[in-house]
Amino acid sequence: MARQTPPSTLEEKLAQLEELRAEARTVDPAKLEKRHAQGRYTARERIEKLLDEGSFQELDMFVRHRTTDFDMAKNRPLSDGVVTGHGTIDGRRVCVFSQDFTNFGGSLGEVMAEKMCKVMDLAAKIGAPVIGINDSGGARIQEGVVSLAGYGDVFLRNVRSSGVIPQISLIMGPCAGGAVYSPAITDFIGMVKNTSHMFITGPEVIKTVTGEVVEFEELGGAMAHNQKSGVAHFAWEDEDHALEETRYLFSFLPSNNLERAPYVPTSDDPNRETPELIDIVPDNPNKPYDMREVIRVAVDDEEFLEVHEHFATNVVVGFARLNGHAVGVVGNQPMSMAGVLDIDGSEKAARFVRTCDAFNIPLVTFCDVPGFLPGTTQEWDGIIRRGAKLLYAFAEATVPKITIITRKAYGGAYDVMASKHLGADMNFAWPTAEVAVMGPEGAVNIIYRNDLKNSPTPEERRQKLMDDYKARFANPYSAAERGYLDDVIEPSETRQRLCVALEALLTKHEPGPKRKHGNIPL
Ligand code: HXC
Repeated sequence: MARQTPPSTLEEKLAQLEELRAEARTVDPAKLEKRHAQGRYTARERIEKLLDEGSFQELDMFVRHRTTDFDMAKNRPLSDGVVTGHGTIDGRRVCVFSQDFTNFGGSLGEVMAEKMCKVMDLAAKIGAPVIGINDSGGARIQEGVVSLAGYGDVFLRNVRSSGVIPQISLIMGPCAGGAVYSPAITDFIGMVKNTSHMFITGPEVIKTVTGEVVEFEELGGAMAHNQKSGVAHFAWEDEDHALEETRYLFSFLPSNNLERAPYVPTSDDPNRETPELIDIVPDNPNKPYDMREVIRVAVDDEEFLEVHEHFATNVVVGFARLNGHAVGVVGNQPMSMAGVLDIDGSEKAARFVRTCDAFNIPLVTFCDVPGFLPGTTQEWDGIIRRGAKLLYAFAEATVPKITIITRKAYGGAYDVMASKHLGADMNFAWPTAEVAVMGPEGAVNIIYRNDLKNSPTPEERRQKLMDDYKARFANPYSAAERGYLDDVIEPSETRQRLCVALEALLTKHEPGPKRKHGNIPL
């Protein structure tokens, strides 16, 4: 309620400040009830739950929009459609914005964009990550082109901060139209199941333009973007889960590109033997196993934060620690499409490798790859240029790179999976490794075609030739002989060797060539 007379004494001025603060924090009770019934928190509640208790310092609480069109002057809520500020997560500074759906549907107009840009500028200046909580009807219709300009200002800052400070986007409501491009530029996108949606054009427009009928959830819900499009990296069960997991993700990231991720002391002995790994890889090279098990056994306390879990499951990426140091892990996944590299898998891994490289997070690669996926679909969809992204990303990365070949490393995919030739620093293989141009069956069929045709006992002959091929190539020793592998190690030594290699490589410094930027085949 506005005061009738201006305050004159200090006491009255303090009371006015208190009233304004309370007004800014007040949410229409009906809207509040609706949100809570939907399992949604308010913008400020989300920030409180995300940050360390009591650490949030709000900025620009007294901002109000300046629009007079469409009777907007009658409704000028304090803070407008977004809550911004900074605070800490596990004691580390972070800047946040949290869109407030209860004010104009969180839609973005002039002053909301100004608030977001201001906190993003602050983050860039102080070298702190930005976490953006998106819950918005998009461009504020009443403000016309000014809203579009505001988005442009946000996008520019997203791009300028890319690779400088980590940027994390939480989608906790609608995120539509061009507005999706701000999260799209950030390093990680997480969506809450059933209550968040992302799309360029909604179901109504799709129906009008193409006649296709589709619901919000199917079109742009959490699983659509985690499983199908690969736009989102995380699918969270509810808002509490989202906020908790964001804090966990944050623990693996440095505050900016000049720092390292926090060191987290562990009681897990770096010299712990890993005999469990001996039995994980089946004797039959065509039998699958779960690469995530290998990763969990090798890293500290079996902790592995998988990123992009539901997309391109033939490749596994995520964060873990080795003797307290954060690492990015990339692995082929024999359980899914035999771990073959395809377009989606290559792009998923390439993006992750570049994220790690930008933020000084060493890379550990577990290789078991039968090759690139053959077929017209892949070729015509551009496996050549899109698969090249992973090769480019590994070759370009200057962070410590350690590779372990557990089983197959065939063909071009051998080169691509952080081989020595792409600048990996320490390359190891288990005795079960097979490093060759292709598998025995394919190789024998090609190079001994005539021999097999003329043989009176082709099946026996094939087996003999395959055995010879295996003895010659399906092992790690021809690669080790040339120094393409630094060592052949026992699976039980895996953790020890990884920890020592990483420790040795922490001082690695490899400045790249002087250039504006490379030209990764996007
Ligand atoms: C102004 C908006 C708004 C918008 C919602 N509101 N979107 N106000 N501009 N873009 C307001 C509503 O008028 C309403 O105000 C309040 O927010 C809540 O909206 P509801 O519709 O009641 O909520 P709900 O039923 O939950 O539906 C949410 C919604 C829907 C799905 C987001 O509001 C919607 O479709 N909005 C329009 C989305 C859209 O097309 N945006 C433009 C995208 S294009 P009251 O006063 O009643 O509380 C874009 C371009 C960006 O963003 C380009 C960048 C380059």
